[in-house]
Amino acid sequence: MTTNDLPSFPFPREETYHPPPIYARLRKEAPISQVRLYDGKIAWLLTKHQDCCEALASSKLSADRRAPGYPEIHAGGHKAKEAIPTFVNMDDPDHAAQRAMLEDEFTPETVNRKWRPMMEEIVDAVLEEFVVKGQEAAKREEPIDLIREFAVHAPTLIIYRVLGVPAADVECLSRDSEIRNSTSRNAAETANLELQKYVTGLVKQKVQDQQPGEDIISKLVEEQLKPGRLTEDQVATLAFLVLTAGNAALINSIALGLLTLLQHPDQLADLKKQPEKLAAQVVNEVTRYYTASGLNSRRAVKEDLMIGGQLLKKGEGVICAVQSANRDEGQFPDPDKFDIHRPGMRPEDTLGFGFGPHRCQAEFFSRAQLEIVFVKLVQRLPGLRLAKRETELTYSEPTMNIGVNELPVYFQ
Ligand code: HEM
Repeated sequence: MTTNDLPSFPFPREETYHPPPIYARLRKEAPISQVRLYDGKIAWLLTKHQDCCEALASSKLSADRRAPGYPEIHAGGHKAKEAIPTFVNMDDPDHAAQRAMLEDEFTPETVNRKWRPMMEEIVDAVLEEFVVKGQEAAKREEPIDLIREFAVHAPTLIIYRVLGVPAADVECLSRDSEIRNSTSRNAAETANLELQKYVTGLVKQKVQDQQPGEDIISKLVEEQLKPGRLTEDQVATLAFLVLTAGNAALINSIALGLLTLLQHPDQLADLKKQPEKLAAQVVNEVTRYYTASGLNSRRAVKEDLMIGGQLLKKGEGVICAVQSANRDEGQFPDPDKFDIHRPGMRPEDTLGFGFGPHRCQAEFFSRAQLEIVFVKLVQRLPGLRLAKRETELTYSEPTMNIGVNELPVYFQ
């Protein structure tokens, strides 16, 4: 086989939101195989759950995108090499040292005490506005788009509060966030620059504040910048990471999660009966079934290693196809079935938040947010129904992370 014969990665989804079908074939026939990237480079693709976990836990693989062989999947990735790196793209010990600077803010204890009440308040407020708009639409006998009028706003306003964005800036900033989270790559890259500029200005403002707030930027300024552990640019880079790391994944998880619950009325009925008990299971299954952030777990080999009987050599690229791993029949029986009642399913089993030292730092924060959203949505709007069939909806570009562009609904 020549390089040109290798399949080109990312693989396209062929229909709606289902993972590319080639993953199922590779898991059976060639769990570790080679793929060709957009720039002509070659990388290893790992499609089984166990192999992905082994790779993502290994210190022989590097998350540094400047390391030789690091697989980029679009031109923006090569550009990103020039930016100040965040700990997402560092290896230990630097990675652990910077990750520790934010750790306290995302522990279960902090999320429950500090962020959960704020999330509940914001979700309630956004939901009430959504209800008013939906009722007006109903008078015109029109549906309302749940993404544009709800799913985009809740996570965005929540992360602004976490970062201490002043209320006066919210409206203008939301426009850039909305475009950045859109499912078109070009529009998203342009809006990025505006957001970056804004965050840099916000950090400068916080440095001058006489009374530091409880928000993450104020904490980084007080605890890291003032003692000289981070520069202003590094604080801005970290704040930008928090602003952007998971917003699109959260929006897509809300939209796809709700879409799927509406398609599974029995499971939706169970959630309505026992929302507090089942919310965590719903979130777990949504993150497994969709893997909203399925293209990020990429690494470069720093030292030769064997995984799944395959030698991966120094300087080669490795892509852990966590979306495929989340549908691995060896790990999850009947993996293509959406089932919130999967027996024995633990939060750590899904790779929706990654695995190993780079596992999502805001996992508990994101799970809490999704739980709140699903519970409040089904309680406040028990009669919610789709205005279009799944096949009539439009989805993200087929080689991007899974996302749905619209979710028109009626309240009754
Ligand atoms: C449903 C929502 C989310 C999903 C599915 C998700 C998924 C992921 C995944 C798969 C990784 C691992 C990437 C890798 O292997 O290199 C990751 C890392 C990370 N995520 Fe999330 N994420 C979400 C929300 C968030 C949010 C809201 C934030 C910030 C507030 C966030 C912050 C981070 C950070 C900082 C890392 C890097 C951790 C490290 O390198 O040590 N994520 N996330």
